[in-house]
Amino acid sequence: MCVGTHPFVPGPTTLHDYVVTSLPRHPSEGAERERATSAVARAARTLAAAGVESARAEAELLAAYVLDVPRGRLALADGFDAGQRDRFAALVARRADREPLQHLTGRAGFRHLELAVGPGVFVPRPETELLAGWGVDQARRRSAPLVVDLCSGSGAIALAVAQEVPGARVVAVERSPAALAWLRRNAAARVAAGDRPIEVVAADVTDPQLLAGLVDRVDVLLCNPPYVPRAVAVPPEVAGHDPDEAVFGGADGLDVIRPVLARAVVLLRPGGVLGVEHDDTHGAAVPALLAADGRYTEVEEHRDLAGRARFATASRRADGPRPDTGLAWQTGSS
Ligand SMILES: C[S@@+](CC[C@H](N)C(=O)[O-])C[C@H]1O[C@@H](n2cnc3c(N)ncnc32)[C@H](O)[C@@H]1O
Repeated sequence: MCVGTHPFVPGPTTLHDYVVTSLPRHPSEGAERERATSAVARAARTLAAAGVESARAEAELLAAYVLDVPRGRLALADGFDAGQRDRFAALVARRADREPLQHLTGRAGFRHLELAVGPGVFVPRPETELLAGWGVDQARRRSAPLVVDLCSGSGAIALAVAQEVPGARVVAVERSPAALAWLRRNAAARVAAGDRPIEVVAADVTDPQLLAGLVDRVDVLLCNPPYVPRAVAVPPEVAGHDPDEAVFGGADGLDVIRPVLARAVVLLRPGGVLGVEHDDTHGAAVPALLAADGRYTEVEEHRDLAGRARFATASRRADGPRPDTGLAWQTGSS
């Protein structure tokens, strides 16, 4: 998660792209209906004044939500009737109060999914799509892979893998009861949409006995843990609405990552791979932890298009001492 920018990253399109001044007047345009474009422009000014970074794009998204049209069709929409205008105004006021856009609409896009989100669960961020995409690629290279998503939250990563790699068995682990409720709701919705069910496990990922039945069996292990160092100031959307336990990873941000790296290598089969998202200040620290462990190989750091360190990956060595026992491996042995 990047806390320096607002989690919802809009596309480059602005409202000006939608305003078609030469359009004939729609019959519904009149005193009793307000054109969406002028309401959006006013809302964008309100949001900008409140410090919302992508004010115009977010105003458009809220208007599209109220009018129940795709954002790209906004200029062609009928405009707001009185009820819609009031609803839009109320949503803009809440957004100006720095409630996350996704809490107002109740949904968050993630890769090809639309997930239900709200109070009690972390809103999935666009940058995590990179880690999920890497996990999808890795899973596709294996036949009937076992994929584990630790710190699953809304289920974003687990459900993306289940959707994009239909042959995968996917296990999602989450500790927070509130987040688990959203995770189960999203998982049920995906089953209804035809995806293979994922397995949801309520557990603490720092438990040294985590997923004891999967030791030596996991092909791909993914994790977007809480990783923001405690002293870092976060935007109001994060401070007021993302659960603390989803965001902060102790004094140095590595409190959850350290035990996850130690347990992951025990769960992975030899040659199995791990991908873990981290704070953008940990582009050296997390690869160093992986290298220092001694049981990982192919340690790599991944950056986004802006050059920010996003996630680290590694593979469990297929040679060397067997975790926990000190015995030598024979790949494929139980
Ligand atoms: C940054 S959020 C990531 C959620 C989701 N994977 C995503 O990418 O949107 C971290 C999640 O880890 C959960 N969490 C924090 N500590 C945990 C622990 N010790 N065991 C299990 N889950 C934990 C939080 O409740 C939260 O849902």
